[in-house]
Amino acid sequence: MSGQIPQRFIDDLLARVDVVEVVGERVKLKKAGRNHSGLCPFHQEKSPSFTVSADKQFYHCFGCGAHGNALRFLMEYDKLRFPEAVEQLAGRLGMEVPREGADDPRAQARERKRKEGVNLLELSASFFRERLKMPEGENARRYLADRGLSPEVQQTFGIGCAPAGWEALKRHLGERGIADSVQIEYGLLVHHEDSGRTYDRFRDRVMFPIRDIRGRTIAFGGRVLGDAKPKYLNSPETPVFHKGRELYGLYEARQANSRLERVVIVEGYMDVVALAQFGIRNAVATLGTSTSEEHLSRLFRMVGEVVFCFDGDRAGRQAATRALETVLPQMIDGRQARFMFLPEGEDPDTLVRREGAEAFEDRITCASPLSEFLFDHAAEGRDLATIEARERFASQVLAAIGKLPEGVLKSLLLGELSRRTGVDQSRFEALVAPAEAPPSEPPLTPEAEWRPEDEGHEARSGTGSQTLSLMGRVLQLLVHEPRLVERLPEDDDWCDQADPEARLCREVVRLLRAGGYRSAQVLLAHFHGTPEGERLAALARREPLVPRGVRGAELDNWVAYFQRHRQQQSPLEEYEVLLSRMQAGEKLSKEDGQRLNALLMELKS
Ligand code: GTP
Ligand code: MN
Repeated sequence: MSGQIPQRFIDDLLARVDVVEVVGERVKLKKAGRNHSGLCPFHQEKSPSFTVSADKQFYHCFGCGAHGNALRFLMEYDKLRFPEAVEQLAGRLGMEVPREGADDPRAQARERKRKEGVNLLELSASFFRERLKMPEGENARRYLADRGLSPEVQQTFGIGCAPAGWEALKRHLGERGIADSVQIEYGLLVHHEDSGRTYDRFRDRVMFPIRDIRGRTIAFGGRVLGDAKPKYLNSPETPVFHKGRELYGLYEARQANSRLERVVIVEGYMDVVALAQFGIRNAVATLGTSTSEEHLSRLFRMVGEVVFCFDGDRAGRQAATRALETVLPQMIDGRQARFMFLPEGEDPDTLVRREGAEAFEDRITCASPLSEFLFDHAAEGRDLATIEARERFASQVLAAIGKLPEGVLKSLLLGELSRRTGVDQSRFEALVAPAEAPPSEPPLTPEAEWRPEDEGHEARSGTGSQTLSLMGRVLQLLVHEPRLVERLPEDDDWCDQADPEARLCREVVRLLRAGGYRSAQVLLAHFHGTPEGERLAALARREPLVPRGVRGAELDNWVAYFQRHRQQQSPLEEYEVLLSRMQAGEKLSKEDGQRLNALLMELKS
């Protein structure tokens, strides 16, 4: 079973299998000329844009761009890994999958490990379920009953309990020949470094098995029975569990409804389970993280609509803002995202119990579409009667629209923005149009895959070979649009960087703040005849190459980046920054002076 699958076998397999047949078993296809067509299984659509070609042996969707051969289709549709898809296709033809280097001990070990892991986790899951039925499970049973979980729903989700002792699971697995080291690797046992002892990670908790899309247990979440901390304990990252990818309840939701069209993303295990008990069987939860791009791309391959459910408090609104940022790039036509906010102090679990399923369903039905949430969010706290507020409002909306893929939604939103601001739509279109020569504009979200560190701390400017430091980029934005200074945090700590431009940046910020410098000309005049003046003039001559409407958002992102980066500064770096500011003739504030002394002491010791 282990080892590489030879390429010639894969070629042979693809030559024998018919993609039309493989797809046709899962998607309703109609013959249309030389091809077959049907509704695309990878995105939501009403008229078919999915075609399968028998000649070319591939499928293609003109709506969402899904594309590939029979193997790719199985991987995407059945959520299989490559070797699993090969196994499945070979199986239908009665072929044995050969492995190259099957005696490669490393490959063998890897394969053994994968099986071992799943096996071990299944064993543990049934151990937890059995304990719940035994006398030792009494407290957990009472807890679950108090929280109103029916026996049926406990069974559907495979809920169990971990006994109170330190070694219950360890002994159980040990007796079945599973080494401690393996139990540690899969997060079931904790190894205490100092004493060298090992003990069960999950003790005296209600246990929720986390299953992958095929129903295999890959991890656990455990809840304390009372108010102790931590309330929830999750398995750590293991060879089979990556919490940024998995969604609790997705397997169960698919089991309940194979034609799942919509999922509701909630926060917690209990929310998923309570909703299911009340017949709302399409809720999933992230595992204590915010919703990631990977979560969404997996979901959107299965369903057309995602409803985000948030608490009504501040944290909930913040989470919603993050979710919006994450979902925008994935909004190809046919997909829907909506946002719902619960009353303060409630979560789906408490609310569905209080209001009942129908009222909760109504809330889902009434959740705001992405467009509505986007506009409301941008308008929040702004008096749109003023021109300045409308400008900011438009900038924020444009920054969001700029992240959308091309399509109807983008056009509709631009139209709506134009209606709301009274500015001609064509003006906005020009701003969000993809630039011709890719200007290597700094991304709007440094959080995303691109990290400034990767680029040696330099942002490419648009003018060819010359590069700007990140701080230089900030300066450039400020020179071109002095009013952006209003967006900067009051405290200019973020500007304490080793970057040589940081000092000038601080000074520019101070001048702009002081008020009299609303245009670049005045600013340049202030520095006229100095090296700084030349530097600023040079920056003023370079076009920032991103539309005016998104510059503010870009600036915010750089500042956030600097704020984070500053926290990671080593004492030596921090010391050097302070020292260079002082040497450059700046009078340090009292706090900075004290900090300098403290750092000096620290570095000496
Ligand atoms: P109940 O109190 O059981 O109703 O849980 P809840 O879902 O209402 O809890 P909460 O809103 O506090 O947390 C939501 C989710 O965040 C949980 O389901 C966990 O996934 C995660 N979470 C909460 N508390 C902790 C914790 O202490 N540690 C970790 N790792 N995750 C937590
Ligand atoms: Mn709760």
